Amino acid sequence: MTPHNEAKEGDYADIVLLPGDPLRAKWIAENFFEHPKLVNSVRNCLGYTGTWQGIPVSVQATGMGQPSTAIYVHELLNVYKAKTLVRVGTSGGLTTDVKVRDIVLGLSASTDSAINNDTFAPYTYAPFANFELVKAADAFATSQMLECHIGGLVSSDTFYLDDPAKSYETLARHGVLAVEMEAATIYTLAHRFGARALAICTVSDCLITGEEIDPSERESSLDTMVEMALTAATQ
Ligand code: HPA
Repeated sequence: MTPHNEAKEGDYADIVLLPGDPLRAKWIAENFFEHPKLVNSVRNCLGYTGTWQGIPVSVQATGMGQPSTAIYVHELLNVYKAKTLVRVGTSGGLTTDVKVRDIVLGLSASTDSAINNDTFAPYTYAPFANFELVKAADAFATSQMLECHIGGLVSSDTFYLDDPAKSYETLARHGVLAVEMEAATIYTLAHRFGARALAICTVSDCLITGEEIDPSERESSLDTMVEMALTAATQ
């Protein structure tokens, strides 16, 4: 048990999917897991464990942003000994090549968060994904003929910026494909605890064109990401 999680040691599987939204965690458990069992409901930040194709798997909501995510992920790694973390989330596309409904596999996650500053000073750490997971997710995308981009994410601390397109322009010119709010701390903590991590993000909106998908499409995009995440994590 922890201050944020009532699960007992052993309640989580080695593989944990990480959506931001608790109701997405519930939806994933109810629609993909065999024998889903609720293991955490503290603050309604729901966590479930079950099996997928007979393999033990869990899902834990992280909430939005790196401070919230870092709490759940640190505890999953430090207390519950998780070994493979796959974020399934949405992102905002930063170039016109990255279209809404496409998937982005985050090779790296730049950030404006100060969360890592003291830890790595005088260096600027570059949080990065696990290569095996990237390869397995990419193979899944190829087999399903999905529009999938592999490149940088930026994990931003701010959703409502005054001029988002302008804020991310320089990053976009340096290989950053999409903005979300959690991957950088997931990657950092996974490396700290010797675990594997990958962020898989559907592009829900484009910061250049203003195009966005509606809530029902967010659900069907989640379906594809969950299949990709479970397939890659269980290779
Ligand atoms: N900013 C941050 N996170 C996001 C966005 C965004 O524009 N779209 C989807 N997740």
